[in-house]
Amino acid sequence: MADDQHKDSYNKSSLESVVVFVVPFPAQGHLNQLLQFSCLISSFGVPVHFIGYKTHIQQAKSRNLQDMQQIHFHEFPTPHFDSPPPIIPNSIMKFPTHLQPSFEASKQLHEPFTNLLHEFSNKVKRIVVIHDPLMSSVVQDFSSIPNAESYAFHCISAFTQFFSFWDAIGRPFPVEGMPKNIPSMEGCFSFEIMNFMAYQYEFMHYRTGDIFNSCRLIEGTYVDLLSKLEMNANKKQWSIGPILQKGSSTRHKSLEWLDKQGQNSVLYISFGSSTTMTDKQIQELAMGLENSKQKFLWVLRDADKGNVFDDETRKARLPEGYQERTEGTGIVVTDWAPQLEILGHTSIGGFMSHCGWNSCMESMTMGVPILAWPMHSEQPWNATLISEILEVGIQVTEQAHQMEFVNSSTIENVVNRLMVSKEGEELRSRAEKLGRQVWQSRDEGGVSQLELSSFMAHLSR
Ligand SMILES: *[C@@H]1O[C@H](CO)[C@@H](O)[C@H](O)[C@H]1NC(C)=O
Ligand SMILES: *[C@@H]1O[C@H](CO)[C@@H](O)[C@H](O)[C@H]1NC(C)=O
Repeated sequence: MADDQHKDSYNKSSLESVVVFVVPFPAQGHLNQLLQFSCLISSFGVPVHFIGYKTHIQQAKSRNLQDMQQIHFHEFPTPHFDSPPPIIPNSIMKFPTHLQPSFEASKQLHEPFTNLLHEFSNKVKRIVVIHDPLMSSVVQDFSSIPNAESYAFHCISAFTQFFSFWDAIGRPFPVEGMPKNIPSMEGCFSFEIMNFMAYQYEFMHYRTGDIFNSCRLIEGTYVDLLSKLEMNANKKQWSIGPILQKGSSTRHKSLEWLDKQGQNSVLYISFGSSTTMTDKQIQELAMGLENSKQKFLWVLRDADKGNVFDDETRKARLPEGYQERTEGTGIVVTDWAPQLEILGHTSIGGFMSHCGWNSCMESMTMGVPILAWPMHSEQPWNATLISEILEVGIQVTEQAHQMEFVNSSTIENVVNRLMVSKEGEELRSRAEKLGRQVWQSRDEGGVSQLELSSFMAHLSR
């Protein structure tokens, strides 16, 4: 935690003389976290401006159920970029490379954002820029404005960040309690995204500090380890997660189906917004679920396109007669589903997930154990954290094989292991316990509430 605050001492009127610019990276898992964060801090009375291209802001808003009225959205005109359909992955590379044109286009926000900074700089006491690390080049000019400062908001786990950097720089000091297997990054990132990340990290030096969407109860060890890396020397840190709030709008049809199911009886399956599976893998998953005889709610979608409103999408093929055969046991949803509300439903007893950090935080906070099936990016790290360190989940396949095709009998077995075995019961009770603790960390005096107050006090100093 940062050093310079007295808890709860933030001063509402001095927050009003600050302006916060939030600059998200345009992929759903990132947009979503920064929008939730914006909702959270704007509830303290600080003016929050959310920056992006129109299409990405519309995407984030259309998938968020919270009250966003206090947020000022700056929707810059969307430049032309290619928005191809997702590439059906080969067995090795599952990174959503079709989004790269949209990522590259995001760099062009640099100039309009700089203009916005100048426009505000002499109107307010302090400009606070909170950005995704992958948008560091866009916000770089804050450093030439005397009353501006920046903070990186990390949409990935501290565990992942620590071990990947520590490994990459040659393991400069020993670490106790290291996971047995440090995941390999092979096949997780495309060459283009590696270059993109390296370029963005060049602009990280001038930031004042780091904000983690994580809770010290989950990742305190790794947040502390991160502060020991030289690149983070003298950077302030706050772990303020979970940042999520339950929405209140109309109920999705899947929740009505869940209302009719027994407690902890349904497996929820979703691979987020950046995963595309081959038809063969979809068929195999379908058969595995059917053969397990367990209840399931499956969100079956391709990865988002760069422009999600461009609506020509591939229809995934389920086996012949599948929905008839599984009627009463399972439902398949192909539109956007309210994941947090689903995970919070008492009928849900497990979550088969790609382990994006957003999904991990949601599942851990809602106390749902995870069947981890990582696909790309640093998802294998999240999966290791979940299964090996926190023991609130199990991996669908062994780490060495996790990027490969998974057959229906493996799926059937692992589903039954989680849903109807002694081991599954134990996982569920550990997950529920962790969920209660993490949720309570936001109550008065809880670790995350203290960190958040500390951050707000820092802004209002
Ligand atoms: C963790 O999740 C973040 C956010 O989705 C993702 O970018 C990263 O790939 C994930 N890492 C793991 C280990 O899942
Ligand atoms: C399914 O995969 C597992 C693990 O790779 C393997 O041991 C098993 O023999 C496979 N089963 C079938 C029916 O192919």
